[in-house]
Amino acid sequence: MSSAAVSGSRRTLLTDINTHGKTANVKSFREWIKDPIIYPAEEKTQIPTEHEIAQFRKTLCHNVCVGMLSEGFHRSFAELFALLQRWEEAEQHPHKLQTLQQHLTRAETAERAGQYREAYENHLFLARFFAEPEDRWLKHHFFQLALHSARKFKMDSGKREAEANLHMGQVYLEKGQLELAQEHFEGFYHLTMGRSWQDTSGRMHHSRSCEELQRVYTLLAQRLLQDQHYADAIKMLTKAYEMAKESGDRGSEGEAAYQLGLAYQSTGDQKTAKQFFSMHLEISTTLENTDSLGRAYEAIAKSLESEGKLTEATEYLEKFAEISLNSKQDRNLEKANMCLGTILNSGKQYDGACVHFEHAYEIACNLASVPRLQKAQVCAGSARALSMMQTYHTLIVTPGRQNIKKIVSWKERREDNFSATSLVRLLIMRRRGMRTMEPFPGPPAHWLFGHVKEFRQDGHDLEKIMKWTEQYPFAFPLWFGPSLSILNIHHPSYVKTILTTTGDGLLVSTGQKWFRHRRLLTPGFHYDVLKPYVKLISDSTKVMLDKWEVYANSEESFELFKHVSLMTLDSIMKCAFSCNSNCQTDSGTNPYIQAVYDLCHLVNLRFRVFPYHSKAIFHLSPHGYKFRKATNIAQSHTAEVIRKRKEVLKIEKEQGIVKNKRYLDFLDILLSARDENQQGLSDEDIRAEVDTFMFEGHDTTASGISWIFYNLACNPEHQEKCREEILQVLDGKDMLDWEDLNKIPYTTMCIKESLRLCPPVPGISRKLTKPLTFFDGRTVPEGCTIGVSIYGIHLNATVWENPYVFDPLRFLPENSAKRSPHAFVPFSAGPRNCIGQNFAMNEMKVAVALTLRKYRLIKDPKHTPKMIPQVVLRSLNGIHIKIKLVENDS
Ligand code: HEM
Repeated sequence: MSSAAVSGSRRTLLTDINTHGKTANVKSFREWIKDPIIYPAEEKTQIPTEHEIAQFRKTLCHNVCVGMLSEGFHRSFAELFALLQRWEEAEQHPHKLQTLQQHLTRAETAERAGQYREAYENHLFLARFFAEPEDRWLKHHFFQLALHSARKFKMDSGKREAEANLHMGQVYLEKGQLELAQEHFEGFYHLTMGRSWQDTSGRMHHSRSCEELQRVYTLLAQRLLQDQHYADAIKMLTKAYEMAKESGDRGSEGEAAYQLGLAYQSTGDQKTAKQFFSMHLEISTTLENTDSLGRAYEAIAKSLESEGKLTEATEYLEKFAEISLNSKQDRNLEKANMCLGTILNSGKQYDGACVHFEHAYEIACNLASVPRLQKAQVCAGSARALSMMQTYHTLIVTPGRQNIKKIVSWKERREDNFSATSLVRLLIMRRRGMRTMEPFPGPPAHWLFGHVKEFRQDGHDLEKIMKWTEQYPFAFPLWFGPSLSILNIHHPSYVKTILTTTGDGLLVSTGQKWFRHRRLLTPGFHYDVLKPYVKLISDSTKVMLDKWEVYANSEESFELFKHVSLMTLDSIMKCAFSCNSNCQTDSGTNPYIQAVYDLCHLVNLRFRVFPYHSKAIFHLSPHGYKFRKATNIAQSHTAEVIRKRKEVLKIEKEQGIVKNKRYLDFLDILLSARDENQQGLSDEDIRAEVDTFMFEGHDTTASGISWIFYNLACNPEHQEKCREEILQVLDGKDMLDWEDLNKIPYTTMCIKESLRLCPPVPGISRKLTKPLTFFDGRTVPEGCTIGVSIYGIHLNATVWENPYVFDPLRFLPENSAKRSPHAFVPFSAGPRNCIGQNFAMNEMKVAVALTLRKYRLIKDPKHTPKMIPQVVLRSLNGIHIKIKLVENDS
């Protein structure tokens, strides 16, 4: 041992030597181990006994220690020796021992040379090296040492000390010692305040400190809540909320607001709770975080329920259910249904409650959660029993022959839901269905659920349909339950048979009424009528494009379907009733617009939720109730508009005023329509037709335009060609004229190619009222439902070459001529095709032209839409693009 090895060294950890005034000197092994070693934290060194030392000899540990001593690393030795007292398996880990030896001695050398950062780094290295769970105590020990040296030597203006505090905070958090963790994270927070220090990944230390503090404050608050110390818990959560805000992370801020809301909810202060939940809701909406959005709805509903506001609570729970359904969060969906059931039950709406409990039961079955399904089963059973009791109680308390008869008959025919009769009926229907579909092989189906479970609305349903389309040419059956099936067809030759067959027999709702209406409405789509609409549609499009300037400036991607949907609603309102709704700028305030929106949404929901296919279940459900409410609003609005318009027309007629309106809207057309017997449409018929235009005419075109924008964003070379063509036709004008609509052939081909790849109406259906035979001799009987898969036809590889490639030139007249006219049917075909297709094509052309004139559409690779076939083709995760102003683009 050389004295030189230790001369000039400053003892940093074993402070006793210097403080005792001794010079650093070579000491014997015994002397060293007798020195009390002062460790920075709780760990005390034990002095080994003679026996222990004897045991120690000739072992690997012994050799390592002796090696350290012989090289003069007395402090490293002392430290290692202290650790070995606790580390029984050290002998079995030579690599760990060697690493310890290496880094302890390096740290000691560095300290002697006054290189404290080096010493600190070596301790930090050891802390990180001991990452295995059984070495956790070693990790903690070295983090403690690192903190100690960082504190003592204040390296890098305190940055190391700050980091060491972070590590120690984490150590204590891991140990569950929250108060100590809090102390260290607070140290970290104060040291990093006003500093721009970052970690190696570029993350700011200060915002990290806020996040860590938020976490630890929240955990402390949870402990307090458990002990029912609500006031203290709220104080702690308020601190957490402040930290979250300071961290600048919106997600954390939303979470902290939610936690505070829950705490206030526990105290019964529902008003404050709702304020925080609303903040959480707002942030979740901005961040499009469906999971936390669902939680916000659920929490608000709970507060409202506690306040006795059951209707409002139900509305929030419905939103919760809906968002869970859309985001495939089955557990939440089950929860939402249970809550809805409970609320309805408490409001004595037992039938509605039963629907929700049964739905919850189905989901719990799918999740294979026995306790949940048992709970749902019990609740459904009791709601059903209460419903029966309610009915028969009314009969009993209201005397009368009729009621007594009802009670007696009920008593006689009381049977379980799944009685033998029902089962037999079901089996007969199933056998009949299977016989019908015999000539059409198809994908294997579950005997009870059929293919229902295959369609998860997760963005892959259409892929599945296409896989089966390839496997089964022309047609295949799809089963929705044990006895309900449809024959899905996806080949032009088959489609031709069904869409061109005329006469009374084919469609359920055909017949005289439809035929007469169609004839009366057709003039409404004459080009003279449609001509002035170009200006109206342009005005609505411009409002939308002005709103988009913010996205062009920010260069952030945005979801466009909702914007386009409001735009098409705005333009159809102008064309149908001459009504300026301003729905694009103040949506949500007009009850009619809200009702139209709700109805579109509820129609989609009903389509997606299988039990809602049953009229009775939907009628009884809260969604059914909301549907009826929205229908009433929409219908009374239309009725009022008709009444007023009729009055005006009457006055004009009486006073001989010449009509000086700029254009005829659909309502004028409908009111003036007369058949050969001079019979017009009844008010009720007019109202129904206006409603149809409203719905057919806005969701479909919104889908069409949104997908066109997306496809053009993905295909910039085609987009550029369209832009060139449009700018040439516009020739400096800011709006297309009616005559221009036919002068943009390339753009028209791109629109058609988008309608092929993304048909806004992905499928339609027909119910046969007489048997039908296809060209290959296969026959389907009366009563069968045929699903025409427009998507399947448009992407059928036997009809289209490279069907998934965007190639507008397919629609060059010479190329179209080579195909069956039934290969491209976005507007259906035959007598019952879309009456509004010219209107729709005009709207799409105007929207595309004005948009490309102003903006360059850019694909956002981070957001690929997931197509879902609902009533119209939508995207599960929205349709996102980025835009740039054309004029700013070099
Ligand atoms: C891109 C936009 C559109 C597409 C893809 C589209 C597609 C279709 C399809 C496929 C059908 C046949 C439905 C079936 O047989 O079950 C249809 C029918 C219909 N469409 Fe459209 N449509 C669009 C826009 C419009 C517009 C703007 C209006 C009205 C202003 C409209 C009014 C109607 C009406 C009234 C029917 C029923 C026709 C009848 O039964 O005789 N559609 N549409």
